[in-house]
Amino acid sequence: MSRLMHYPDLMVCVLAAGQGKRMRSKLPKVLHPILGKSMLEHVLHTVEELQPHKIAVVTGDGAEQVREHIGQPANLEWVMQDRQLGTGHAVQQCEQVCSDVDHVMIVCGDTPLLRCETLDRLARHHKDSGAEVTFLSAHLPDPFGYGRVLRDEAGKIIGIVEERDATSEQKRIKEVTSGIYCVRQDVLFRLLERVGNRNAQGEYYLPDIVPLALEAGMRVEAVAMDDAEEIRGVNNRKQLAEAEAVLQQRIIEDWQLSGVTILQPHTVRIEASVRIGMDTIIHAGTQLLGATSIGDECEIGPYAVLDNCWVDDGSSVLAFSHLQDASVGAHCRIGPFARLRPDAKLADEVHIGNFVEVKKAIVGDGSKINHLTYIGDAIIGKQCNIGAGTITCNYDGANKHLTEIGDDVFVGSDTKLIAPVRVGSGSTIGAGSIITRDVPEGGLTLSARPDQRHLPGWRRPRKEDR
Ligand code: UD1
Ligand code: MG
Repeated sequence: MSRLMHYPDLMVCVLAAGQGKRMRSKLPKVLHPILGKSMLEHVLHTVEELQPHKIAVVTGDGAEQVREHIGQPANLEWVMQDRQLGTGHAVQQCEQVCSDVDHVMIVCGDTPLLRCETLDRLARHHKDSGAEVTFLSAHLPDPFGYGRVLRDEAGKIIGIVEERDATSEQKRIKEVTSGIYCVRQDVLFRLLERVGNRNAQGEYYLPDIVPLALEAGMRVEAVAMDDAEEIRGVNNRKQLAEAEAVLQQRIIEDWQLSGVTILQPHTVRIEASVRIGMDTIIHAGTQLLGATSIGDECEIGPYAVLDNCWVDDGSSVLAFSHLQDASVGAHCRIGPFARLRPDAKLADEVHIGNFVEVKKAIVGDGSKINHLTYIGDAIIGKQCNIGAGTITCNYDGANKHLTEIGDDVFVGSDTKLIAPVRVGSGSTIGAGSIITRDVPEGGLTLSARPDQRHLPGWRRPRKEDR
């Protein structure tokens, strides 16, 4: 990344106003998520790497929703396109915000696979060649849907034709445009003024500036992309899934190369904002979602789901565990079949076993909650042992109440702690107790147990012989 240039004289316009009819969705197209981030967020993160003068985002369809989703980064200007009359018309709306830069880069909000290195190559070539118009092109084995690059017999670019306007012969051309352009600011808006809408869609096409520039004797350059995958525009749900698969493959390879072992990688989902430390092992079927961060030397899965969680070094989250908005300290062992719900905060060396649910609770160093237990709205100290079947009865039907347990407490199996209640450090609670009042420090506390009887002559019922 450090080799990227910075472009203080460049404005990047991201086109994101289109309805995305082909998505067949109520959600604006650019907000459809790919690996936990919207397409538009992917594109914005990529263009930010260029450190341009500013980024203008053209919105129209669902503008409010799009703006709310992105927020207001300092270097971002919103531009409104009231009616979606085409990509050329969308760029025209940016004329004012582009007035104080020398060059304008136009990027579509629906090309989430773009790499900043590729945009850097485009911008660099544009400047070094002195061309008025430069665009990214690629050769696609299946060019359906893309604008095709038209060249004369000598190989000189003569124009671009959109899929819907192409003759059957032109449709066979495999060289396509990405929809990504770098144009000198002083010519861009003059060229756009002359773009018409006499085409199959009745739209003002940005690519039409290419023949107009050539007619005016300007220089137009195409920069061929190394990896044609990057060009993929997402126009429908099939392409959305395909783009996600490409991005997933990239993310998995990046983690593998930085020292993470991923078993059966094609079964694993790792979203774009996830972080993973060295020598961690991710087992099959695992899903790491949102802003999940995993430390070094951890072991996760198989089939674990971690959404927006923090896991510190050396911890294991074993098979079929589900963790959401939870944090796990170092050298903990979670699962198999454990559930950590929002605001479960475990310190170091904590064990959470099978069929244990923890919600909004702090668990201190070295404490163990190994079997069939519900801990909600609780603070548990260090080195406690919470027996099988313990329940913090936190809810009275209207309000939630707190259970506070000190250090070194032993809670016998099948104990019910009726909150609000406090259990003093060093105490032991006998199995099967129902704790309704605070428990003092030390000693044994237990509630009255039901009587136990023995009937010596009693016989088991048997099935009658036939
Ligand atoms: C566009 C290009 C095509 C290129 C392809 C690459 C045009 C006319 N065609 O086709 O040459 O091969 O991208 O993916 O430029 N948008 C607006 N306002 C509008 C219309 C569109 O902001 O009035 C935005 C859309 O939200 C989208 C982007 O521009 O993010 C591209 O529009 P889209 O309709 O997807 O164009 P394509 O048919 O994919
Ligand atoms: Mg598109």
